[in-house]
Amino acid sequence: MVRRALIAGNWKMHMTTGQAKALAARVGEAAKQATDRDVLVAPPFTAIPAVAGALAGSEVIIAGQNVCWEEQGAYTGEISPVMLKDLGATAAIVGHSERRQIFGENDDLINRRVTGALGFGLTVVLCVGETLEERESGQTLAVLETQVQGGLEQVSGEDLARIVVAYEPVWAIGTGKTATTEQAQEAHAFIRRLIGKRYEKGLADQMRILYGGSVKPANIDELMAQPDIDGALVGGAALDAESFGRIINFK
Ligand code: 13P
Repeated sequence: MVRRALIAGNWKMHMTTGQAKALAARVGEAAKQATDRDVLVAPPFTAIPAVAGALAGSEVIIAGQNVCWEEQGAYTGEISPVMLKDLGATAAIVGHSERRQIFGENDDLINRRVTGALGFGLTVVLCVGETLEERESGQTLAVLETQVQGGLEQVSGEDLARIVVAYEPVWAIGTGKTATTEQAQEAHAFIRRLIGKRYEKGLADQMRILYGGSVKPANIDELMAQPDIDGALVGGAALDAESFGRIINFK
């Protein structure tokens, strides 16, 4: 099964509109050569219009870093799927570990975001991953199972085509510590087996599973050589056009 690779940049809470425009233009250039893979950027909400302008006519996918499930209403501080689409985004990251850890989002809330976003036609990048404490106490696979099952509750096999799972071990995010390729491959294969059991093997084989956590130009090639790693969700290195360009053009 050949899955099309997806390299995604999560800009987190970085980039004013001017900075975002300049970075997006360079990402657009780097993505031009990468015709056999998909590229996605997730700017902060405020920079999406500038990024959409800079990427007009490009194939680069634009995503929100989070999304509400309702079209509109009394949800102070939230952004709806319709609003994201209005700005030119076609995808949203949901359940990032920073949302879970800093803002207290749980699997229930994350699942509402996932189903809402799918319902309005967005693609969803669902993030899962264990903390260092969970890994050290041998709970990694159990945590992944709970987060994958919880996040995908009520999601149909048909809608699964618009789900990308990102495995991001919390201890590898922004720490410079990457999971070893074996650790990442083991987690990815486990997630794919889970999806296969819950849905069917054919759907699991088609699903893209990204690795995230200190992905850099120096480790992307080795990660992408793993059979169940279909792409990367890049934080810090996505803020630098040259590094992200090299990651997009992994070998
Ligand atoms: P870093 O690449 O900075 O470790 O961040 C990973 C991440 O959280 C992407 O969503």
